[in-house]
Amino acid sequence: MAQITIDETACIRCGQCVDVCAITHVFELTDASSAAVRPEDCWNCGQCVAGCPTDAIDLDTFPLEDCPIIERPDLPSRDSLTAGFRIRRSQRAFQDVAVDREVIRELVSLGRWAPTASNSQSVDWIAFDDPARIDELSRGTVDEIVRFAGLARNPLIRIALPLFIGPGAGRQLRNASGLIDRLQSARNRGEDPVFYHAPIVLIGHCPSGNRFGRDDAVYATYNMMLAAETFGLGTCQIGFFQIVVEKSSRMLRRIGLPKGRRPQIAIAIGYPRHEFRRGLPRRSPNLPWNTR
Ligand SMILES: Cc1cc2nc3c(=O)[nH]c(=O)nc-3n(C[C@H](O)[C@H](O)[C@H](O)COP(=O)(O)O)c2cc1C
Repeated sequence: MAQITIDETACIRCGQCVDVCAITHVFELTDASSAAVRPEDCWNCGQCVAGCPTDAIDLDTFPLEDCPIIERPDLPSRDSLTAGFRIRRSQRAFQDVAVDREVIRELVSLGRWAPTASNSQSVDWIAFDDPARIDELSRGTVDEIVRFAGLARNPLIRIALPLFIGPGAGRQLRNASGLIDRLQSARNRGEDPVFYHAPIVLIGHCPSGNRFGRDDAVYATYNMMLAAETFGLGTCQIGFFQIVVEKSSRMLRRIGLPKGRRPQIAIAIGYPRHEFRRGLPRRSPNLPWNTR
């Protein structure tokens, strides 16, 4: 249980800790100061410490020396944020240039400022920068897609297949014969149609039972994708690999995931070979209000 101490002499009863702790209601205002009345319900989001204007709250899991005051002089403007959003594109052609591992560590570190459900902070990563290992994963992905497609065509196995690869997936596989042929012939030509010869592949993973593991991993990924642009790096999410690794124990074994963890997302990273000059239009999302 979190140890929460309130310095009554410093507390100005502003009520911010009460307001920000709006799910677990750990704090209540007394006549003298705020009081931590339900510390057992604290889920360690730390917002009370981050917000307290007089540093009156001492939470043992967030010592103040680990919580620097955030300077805000160069928050990006809306224009530069918008430009950043539009500049990021999925890159599918990479220079044959290695990416320093320190840069990847920095990117992963930037990913952790993304939100996670109940502040679980449980996204971890596996990195591949050995071209032979990346090639093995690429080849394995194509092989497994071909194998699944073969099973989907087999009239006996076809009925039971949805149990293993999910409803609708068998039909998708049967309808994707053109795509599967292209993947296979690209592989036969020595190309990498999965990771596009990216020098880095990152796989994000979370504890198996984490109900929001995918969401957590996706938020972290998008932080990292945007940050990658500031390093001159390009990225591409590889859903193909994710689909296969989720369904294939062979592929799962190949990535050496720690016990009790599930893969949630895969990203290819490298220095892009090309620059995109133009922003493309996007569909405007529908936005009805107060619907029933
Ligand atoms: C969930 C998801 C899965 C994706 N999987 C792949 C993939 O397997 N291979 C690929 O080349 N691109 C993949 N992409 C990239 C999309 O094709 C791309 O984001 C989309 O075409 C829009 O282009 P942009 O990222 O350049 O804006 C994926 C993107 C998302 C969000």
